[in-house]
Amino acid sequence: MQNGMDRLREALRKAACVSVLTGAGISAESGVPTFRGADGLWENYNVMELATPEAFENDPELVWRFYNWRRSLISRLTFNAAHKALAELETRIPRFTLITQNVDGLHAKAGSRNILEIHGNLWKVRCVECSMIVLDHSPDMGHLPRCSRCGGFLRPHVVWFGESLDPDILQKSLDASRSCEVMITIGTSAIVQPAASLAMEARRSGALTAEINLERTGHSEFMDLVLLGKAGETVPGLLEGWS
Ligand code: OAD
Repeated sequence: MQNGMDRLREALRKAACVSVLTGAGISAESGVPTFRGADGLWENYNVMELATPEAFENDPELVWRFYNWRRSLISRLTFNAAHKALAELETRIPRFTLITQNVDGLHAKAGSRNILEIHGNLWKVRCVECSMIVLDHSPDMGHLPRCSRCGGFLRPHVVWFGESLDPDILQKSLDASRSCEVMITIGTSAIVQPAASLAMEARRSGALTAEINLERTGHSEFMDLVLLGKAGETVPGLLEGWS
């Protein structure tokens, strides 16, 4: 009998259309803290209370201190074997979409091309007045950065709790989930919506669904295949024996 890894490898080799959803777990082995693990705290603040429009309104300097800490941390890190393997997988599959909840930019750094960053990007900032978006890789943006065009306050171009996803990116993610033959979720607790429902959308449309995670999640029972293990070890295994 075939094990889960063999079944997934075989399905990937036959597939013309594959979608992958990643979460914080894929970057954990690069050194990026996850949200709900024991490391989901910063200076004793719950990070989920800082990533809100209310927190920015009440204390923008505190929120920027948190984001400058994240920028500075992530600027010193790089992609790992799991990010690299997904970039390689993309070159072998005719239609491949990488949907990520991560804002760290490590998928692009590893060479992935067709990426939907549904929660935004840490390296982009947006003016709260004129909405201009700028790419800025500075590890530290200063305590209260301002827009070079209108002088308004800049904020990270990420989706905070209580905010909606960009409707265009959400639609593309839904389309990619509904049209794929194989959908893999990697390193996500599958709690935050609407990302968490994408694998369900894929399953309803007839895709083979697989989950790669250190542990079982609330979604495991709905998945066709559950591969338990570190992403950095499991994801490269998808390419094994592929000529
Ligand atoms: P979580 O922190 O909720 O979950 C991380 C998942 O990764 C857990 O299920 C871990 O078991 C798993 N994990 C940890 N290390 C791993 C490893 N080395 N290999 C494989 N799996 C591993 O992160 P997300 O699901 O990404 O949203 O969280 C979703 C969203 O919640 C984030 O994008 C963020 C947060 O609030 C926003 O900021 C809008």
